[in-house]
Amino acid sequence: MNISELIGEMTLREKIGQLCQVQPNGRDQEHRVRDGMVGSLINVTGDDAYFYQSQAVEHSRLKIPLLLGRDVIHGFNTIFPIPLGQAASFDPRAVRTAAAIAAREANSAGVNWTFSPMLDVSRDPRWGRVAEGFGEDPYLVSLYGRAMIEGYQSEKIAACAKHFVGYGASEGGRDYSEASIPPRQLHDVYLRPFREAVDAGVLTVMSAFTDLDGVPCTGNAALIRDLLKIRMGFGGLVVSDWNSVTEMITHGFAGDEANAAFHALAAGIDMEMASNSFLDHLENMIAGGEVPLEWIDAAVRRVLEVKQRLGLFDEPYGPERTGIAANDALFNARSLAHKSCVLLKNEATLPLGEGIRRLAVIGPLADAAADQLGCWVFDADHNRTRTVLSGLRERLGDVRVDYVAGLPHSRSNDEAGIPHAIEAACRADAVVLCLGEDADLSGEAHCRAHIGLPGAQQRLLEAIAGTGKPIVTVLMAGRPLVLGPVIERSGAVLLAWHPGSMGGVAITDILFGEEPGGRLPMSLPRSVGQVPVYYNHKNTGRPPDQKGPAIPAGTPLDPSGFVATYIDEDHRPLFPFGYGLSYTDFTYSDILLSTDRMPADGQLKASVLVTNTGNKTGNEVVQLYVRDLVGSVTRPVRELKDFQRISLAPGESRRVEFEVEASDLAFCDIRFRQAVEPGEYRLWIGPNSASGPDILFRIE
Ligand code: NOJ
Repeated sequence: MNISELIGEMTLREKIGQLCQVQPNGRDQEHRVRDGMVGSLINVTGDDAYFYQSQAVEHSRLKIPLLLGRDVIHGFNTIFPIPLGQAASFDPRAVRTAAAIAAREANSAGVNWTFSPMLDVSRDPRWGRVAEGFGEDPYLVSLYGRAMIEGYQSEKIAACAKHFVGYGASEGGRDYSEASIPPRQLHDVYLRPFREAVDAGVLTVMSAFTDLDGVPCTGNAALIRDLLKIRMGFGGLVVSDWNSVTEMITHGFAGDEANAAFHALAAGIDMEMASNSFLDHLENMIAGGEVPLEWIDAAVRRVLEVKQRLGLFDEPYGPERTGIAANDALFNARSLAHKSCVLLKNEATLPLGEGIRRLAVIGPLADAAADQLGCWVFDADHNRTRTVLSGLRERLGDVRVDYVAGLPHSRSNDEAGIPHAIEAACRADAVVLCLGEDADLSGEAHCRAHIGLPGAQQRLLEAIAGTGKPIVTVLMAGRPLVLGPVIERSGAVLLAWHPGSMGGVAITDILFGEEPGGRLPMSLPRSVGQVPVYYNHKNTGRPPDQKGPAIPAGTPLDPSGFVATYIDEDHRPLFPFGYGLSYTDFTYSDILLSTDRMPADGQLKASVLVTNTGNKTGNEVVQLYVRDLVGSVTRPVRELKDFQRISLAPGESRRVEFEVEASDLAFCDIRFRQAVEPGEYRLWIGPNSASGPDILFRIE
């Protein structure tokens, strides 16, 4: 298809049509599609998707195929762990595979565009959308973004890097609220995953709802047109978020719909989602000379080129598919769930052993098939979902399993069921207590000011702890929670996030010996007052003591002086980024460098000896962090630069080696250049962001 010739044949109205994405109500857009007045539909699947595509490619004048978009965020029929859980896997390859499976399933239902991955670096667990992203570290977010983009696009559905940009910094963790991000932080932290996405060939980008320093992103020409399209070289299409074009009126940035359409098009929005300001106003504005025709042509070209790159002109209904192997999808969902569960505490309670003859399974999330799937699930095959209760019952043929929910649902304050739960615990050898958040407590517009256990769950935990039975608390949640009181009262705590279709089986596997492979992609706060708390912060002129808490427990005022901490709370998170236990123990020693001096365009090798000192074979995520000790601008106290997942037998030692490129240490310098600076650096290789041996080197 020659795109220029096609554009040459189009009427102005057909061109404007290509810039519109609408959500049909049933088949009410049939005529509009036949008239060539729609470029994309959102939220149509199955027969409706095929119907609309046929109207476009068989009955419209120019037979231009439709982009059919859907929020396929962590699976389609088979649901994988929420993206934050996937991030805990520290396994981008597994995430790529999951995305490819989701794409195959979605494409078989007619979908050719997913609004994923969400690349918003997120450091505020109150924000409900932390569930949809990959956490607080820009490097990790970038790796997973690339993995998902490659996975989706390898199966012929377009990925969408969203939300451009800064949505993760929504003030107060309140969805849609404004963000203020200093320029260097914008460059080093929030833009980095988008640079990686462009490099990975992402076909589409979505603008953020956010008012970023006074300009709604959907109307921000400096960000979209100049930075994303020209300087970063993004050649695909930019879609607005839902109604975000006309919301510029509510922001107080556009006077009316016509003005909103003008701002959006001028900024570089190529397709308007949901609202109709392009359709209703662009024609007149062109006639009146307010909008140049070249703006429309440039946007149409991008839309058509994406359709062409997806192969839609040749195969509008998608490639011929053999049936999706459900077993394969479920196998991958199970193994990704193993890797995403983070073991936070284990006082020799796990794995559960042979001695268990009777098990009490308690809690509102033990048998909550829909809630364990998490947010943004529309197309799940619910027959595929296996809960913790069903997983345990299936595995423990001759062990008696007593199930009591204890509370009607996770937010309930109705404690009438607690005595019954206590009775079940008293009769059992051990208790598996499934607590946390239901699916509705995270995702878009689902932010929380209190991020502890909802409802009467803590009281349920206290009551069960009172029985003195060993307790394994399994937490399902869409965000980091404040967990101090949970940790204190449980023998073991497994953070499973919302683990998806196979969550219950994967958790059962872990309870009985399969290794929990997850490491935290976000720091877990001690209290909401610490938020935002993230590992890669700056040092300040008065850093608190990094070795211990600033205040001894029970001391009312900080005796240690005027440092960057609280007088009533430790400055450190409860669990740091990168943290996670396994069923064995590892030690790190003998850190070495191939050289302690490298040129600004060179590289060095760093290695450490890791030993499995426990008595089980185990997996470890070996993490490499660097700090630039003196820069032209201050630098974070640590930054993750690389990691490797290894497996060691009991007693086995391995020297784990990394290559560090000087270019990986570049940042936005005092003159706003991306630069590698000479000077001294500290490098750690360890099990998380707060420990591990370190060594110094210089860049010359
Ligand atoms: C609004 C959300 O912000 C965005 O992420 C999503 O893709 C669109 N709605 C479409 O559902």
